[in-house]
Amino acid sequence: MRKQIVAGNWKMNSDLEAGKKLTSEIVNMVKDEVKNEAKVIIIPPAILLSSVGQLIGSSDKIALGAQNCHQATSGAYTGEISTGMIQSCGGEYVIIGHSERRAYFHEDDALLAEKVKTVITAGLHPIFCCGETLEERESGNQEAVVGSQVKKALFELSKEEIQKVVIAYEPVWAIGTGKTASAEQAQEIHAFIRKQVAEQYDAEVADGISILYGGSVKPANAKEIFAQPDVDGGLIGGASLKSRDFTDIIKSF
Ligand code: PGA
Repeated sequence: MRKQIVAGNWKMNSDLEAGKKLTSEIVNMVKDEVKNEAKVIIIPPAILLSSVGQLIGSSDKIALGAQNCHQATSGAYTGEISTGMIQSCGGEYVIIGHSERRAYFHEDDALLAEKVKTVITAGLHPIFCCGETLEERESGNQEAVVGSQVKKALFELSKEEIQKVVIAYEPVWAIGTGKTASAEQAQEIHAFIRKQVAEQYDAEVADGISILYGGSVKPANAKEIFAQPDVDGGLIGGASLKSRDFTDIIKSF
């Protein structure tokens, strides 16, 4: 059985005090209320990794992740953070290729392939994001776009390496817009991604990879989306900033 995952991407929100409060609330609510096996990943801004990591402590249930990292392991890259820094704070996951990084920081497929490789080499798990824009969906190109993103960033990996990856399908038109892909739309692309992985590697590898859906997931729609056979959880933005909503989403399996 592949892992069910709910990851909360705080983006550039919160500060030290608010981040500590939010983490403590999530840790307590998850402990008291969540009975399922889903893995929870908290992904705060880089500057809060250490504090949030300390509050999570060593837990099988809740893990820490970063929103981005540099492709080099160290060096003269002012303002950047490395996989080693993330690890030293207790981080186990790194989001790579979020559409906001692609759009605002011009991260392209070749760079993302490098970052994915760096993250895996460090012993961490990339949460690799892919997804089409509204224009691309309206012209019926969603599979071509997502297929190409996945192929270019992931398909140079070995069979061992690809198994470390979590994939997140995040249609750009659904992120932060309140518009969610329908459960059917999510299932369709998730099944397509899994088929691509099966064709490149094999069915067993494809079957073991967790594919998360992201884009305006809320307590009200999580259950239906998570119930799809190829949806293994969610990458949550806005709703991960509210402990009540985030916990209710985790309970949706
Ligand atoms: P959202 O963001 O849940 O606020 O739409 C999702 C994401 O960008 O990961």
